[in-house]
Amino acid sequence: MRLRRPTLGLRWYFEHNDGHLMDKWDHYFDVYERHFGPFRGRKPKMLEIGVSHGGSLQMFRHYLGRGTTIVGIDVHERIVGLAEPGIVPEVGSQSDLDFLADVCRRHGPFDIILDDGSHWYRDQRASLHALWPHLVDGGVYLVEDVHTSYMARYEGGLGRDDTFIGETQRRVDDLHRYWLDDEGVEGEGPNDWTTSMTGIHVYDSIVVFDKGVHSAPVRRMTGRPAFETIYGFPADDMITDDHRAQLAALNTPPARVRRALRDPRAAWQRLAARLRSSE
Ligand SMILES: C[S@@+](CC[C@H](N)C(=O)[O-])C[C@H]1O[C@@H](n2cnc3c(N)ncnc32)[C@H](O)[C@@H]1O
Repeated sequence: MRLRRPTLGLRWYFEHNDGHLMDKWDHYFDVYERHFGPFRGRKPKMLEIGVSHGGSLQMFRHYLGRGTTIVGIDVHERIVGLAEPGIVPEVGSQSDLDFLADVCRRHGPFDIILDDGSHWYRDQRASLHALWPHLVDGGVYLVEDVHTSYMARYEGGLGRDDTFIGETQRRVDDLHRYWLDDEGVEGEGPNDWTTSMTGIHVYDSIVVFDKGVHSAPVRRMTGRPAFETIYGFPADDMITDDHRAQLAALNTPPARVRRALRDPRAAWQRLAARLRSSE
């Protein structure tokens, strides 16, 4: 299929789709654009679980631009006929760990992984755990149709642990493990999820996980104290060496000149206040 101009968005493509059939909930396009947009024109490698007729593979190939490779996984043999430049069908199940390892060995690592496969929790979980190490730092892992976590026919329901939303809650806990007060309790300190995941975004029916180096949070302050105390303690006791260095840098003559040129009105007000206080 000929690629159209890569400047047009996903919704435009969907409305004008003359390629293969695809099946999407309307509100997904904004979420895709938010999380996949940064990869446009950067020749990303994407893995989509659940190919069906292949329309979604073609749409993302168009959207992400020339040089994009999209590997599509599906249990149906018939998808082999959907191969075209930049689109690589692979037949197998998203819960078959040997199959996934082989796909990753041959095509990975990936910048984007999208799970639109069986929508069963056990499969969504198996794929997430198996594929996460094969996502690059800065990559995104998007699982869609997670509303199955609430549907009786998928053994879902409100407040359940054994659903993908339950799984997401555990990943939210992992994201915050640096904050556990007693890291001495075995298994409660930061784990591999904590250190390799920088964010989780939850939408209606979609969860997106951001991959990246997540170090222990560092708290910093900058700027001049406006009052004598900070959170009830003397300001001087609260200012770290780092902060003191930042304040000292503000007072160098070149920094003062730069600040005055950036905002002459504020510089004049500062000078006037200083003159008033010295009267
Ligand atoms: C909702 S459709 C995918 C739709 C497609 N992504 C689109 O947007 O047009 C789900 C697909 O997942 C496939 N599927 C079901 N179970 C699977 C499994 N365990 N592993 C991989 N694919 C599976 C089905 O054969 C079906 O084609």
